[in-house]
Amino acid sequence: MTYNVGLIGWGTVGGGVLDILSQEKHRIEQRCGQEVSIKTIVTRSPSRSRSQNAGSALVTDDINVILNDESIAAVILLVGGTDISKEFCIQCLEAGKHVITANKAIIAEYWDELFAIAQDNNVILAFEAAVAGSIPIIDSLRDGFVANRIDGVEGILNGTCNYILTMMEECNLSYDSALEKAKELGYAEADPTLDVNGMDTAHKTAILARLSFNTQISMDSMNIEGIESLSAGDIESAKRLGARIKLLGLAQRQENGISLSVEPTLVPITHQLASVRLNNNAILIDGHACGPSVLIGQGAGALPTASAVLSDTIDIITGARQQAGPRNCNVTFESLDIIEDNLNRAPFYIRFVVQDESGVLAKICSSFSNHSISIDSVNQSTGNDNGEATIEIVTHPCLRSSLSSVINELGSKPILDVVTMKYLL
Ligand code: HSE
Repeated sequence: MTYNVGLIGWGTVGGGVLDILSQEKHRIEQRCGQEVSIKTIVTRSPSRSRSQNAGSALVTDDINVILNDESIAAVILLVGGTDISKEFCIQCLEAGKHVITANKAIIAEYWDELFAIAQDNNVILAFEAAVAGSIPIIDSLRDGFVANRIDGVEGILNGTCNYILTMMEECNLSYDSALEKAKELGYAEADPTLDVNGMDTAHKTAILARLSFNTQISMDSMNIEGIESLSAGDIESAKRLGARIKLLGLAQRQENGISLSVEPTLVPITHQLASVRLNNNAILIDGHACGPSVLIGQGAGALPTASAVLSDTIDIITGARQQAGPRNCNVTFESLDIIEDNLNRAPFYIRFVVQDESGVLAKICSSFSNHSISIDSVNQSTGNDNGEATIEIVTHPCLRSSLSSVINELGSKPILDVVTMKYLL
């Protein structure tokens, strides 16, 4: 017996899917109880030379070949972006085909619409590969942790950013050279802007929040910052503080709702997420019963992502997955408010570059006091020939809005530059 699959998109991950299916053909056949065959591949450029062999698959640029083929029961959809990809996803679901995708943007932004279509057509929409590459975090939330009230999720969710930050810290590479290397290694999206500006992490955080809190998540409610403006100076400051900078997606249950954010964050080196290097991703799930649990693995690249794609595919073939969407999310919703980011409390790190003159430190400290922000530690270093000093402050948990008021109140001179970052406890 053969289970026929269609593949839409033959880029890095599509190539990984073909590689695993050929390398592990017999093992996968044994696990599925039948042969798994990619019958048709739809790609924008059928004639481009690639390192994989399409085998017996028909390679075409016409999606109708898949849509009209009743022998194809499931489609692996590996097209990025939202417009065309969403359209393809809907066409496949409406044609009665299960869809397995790595596209986090369509899942995060069109969750309700897509799962309703899947349910109406009695097919499955699976997306393990959309978050954290090879790490089975979707399965873990829908199965392993399903009995827990999840209180928080902290994630390093973008392999490209984690790779860049690791290379800047460990090899003193510039941001640009580290990004080039990440692209060469196949970690970055076709347009790496979405990796480095935090949007990719935001989509993944929204999906994890939705699964964790069983509530509707709007991307508009999230504070999203990327890593593009981080400098070698920031990396050095983190080292001095005994911390590392990580781009974190945070989703936390608070008394009055949930808070969501994506931003470069100082993580103390003793924290479990601090030691996660290179293209690895990691997710700390804090469940009321399981306690903090960390999953670590490769979050980007051809084979790690294809591993998750094929995990969903095999689940569908074997019948291990039967509902349209995750079981903890398609029944009823909790209605939780998303707290405006300005109203979230967290400790912050602030680095001021100032003119080294009398009264500057006092002025800064009194502004913190005026806005009821309690200071945890202060470090000042002086001594460069420009007459400048660097003052680094770590606060106790405070409102982001209060910190913004301090920065506005201090204005420019004698403050020459200010960098702020959340500090993970
Ligand atoms: N480009 C993503 C990353 C991989 O760097 O993590 C796919 O989500």
